[in-house]
Amino acid sequence: MRIRIRVPATTANLGPGFDGMGLALGLYNEIEAEPASALEVTIEGEGADLLPRDATNRVVRAAAALFERMGSALPPMRLRCHNRIPMMSGLGSSAAAVVGGLALAQAWMGRRDPPEALLEIATMLEGHPDNVAPALLGGLVLVARDEDGLIAARVPIPPMRVALALPGVTVSTEMARRLLPSYLALDDVVYQISHVALLVHAFREGDWGLLGRAMRDRLHEPYRAQLIPGYERAVAAARAAGAAAVCISGSGPALAAFAPEGHEAIATAMAAAFEEAGVPARTWVVEVDFKGVRVEIEPGV
Ligand code: HSE
Repeated sequence: MRIRIRVPATTANLGPGFDGMGLALGLYNEIEAEPASALEVTIEGEGADLLPRDATNRVVRAAAALFERMGSALPPMRLRCHNRIPMMSGLGSSAAAVVGGLALAQAWMGRRDPPEALLEIATMLEGHPDNVAPALLGGLVLVARDEDGLIAARVPIPPMRVALALPGVTVSTEMARRLLPSYLALDDVVYQISHVALLVHAFREGDWGLLGRAMRDRLHEPYRAQLIPGYERAVAAARAAGAAAVCISGSGPALAAFAPEGHEAIATAMAAAFEEAGVPARTWVVEVDFKGVRVEIEPGV
């Protein structure tokens, strides 16, 4: 048996939707797994020089967690990880590892549960739901946690492309969360709620003008901007190049820009602005992913 997993990058928050929404992106990590006599992990691509190749690897830990929940131990396997999602970038590399490991374990056990079934354990392993939910389900996903548990709802949106720019600094989500205020004033709460509601409507309708007004945030971006050298310049450059809306992707430092057209020029303009601020930057133009994690099982290899 050989199992192949493809799991998308994700951009969480989308401005005001802090911890409450995320979008899956067509930039994928791939994992291939087959039985072996002992755990063997090979890693190519992003993070190949940094990620552990033993039981502490995040993909392995997530797979082991699901086996454990089902009352068994992780069987010995050979894992080949081909990573395209940059680490500590705000593009959901850690959520992709968690979702990839869980989907792999589920397929190995021959279970055919829908991806939603993994949402709870994925959130527990990742700490917040807004990257794992779109990585599982694809598209734009709204998430909430309340007294009765987790809720995830996929919002239908038109196909669109996203321009991404990643300056050459790393930001740990943990550090970026510590910068945030514990309390918001009532007028800021109202600002957030009203902007999130408009943002969802703008995405659904593909209304770029409204998206530009709605993707504004007072909860985390003003605090996190300081972690991103050249932030102001890159946002201004993206807008000057035709972006309707720009946000910090997740906890950063990547920026995500939304526009009806001209994505390559927007990405290039953001990179040039970062470089003027003294930081090299990488760029991608990606489609929104509507499939979420994908599993292929090749029997009897
Ligand atoms: N909602 C999380 C945060 C996403 O902004 O901290 C992290 O990618």
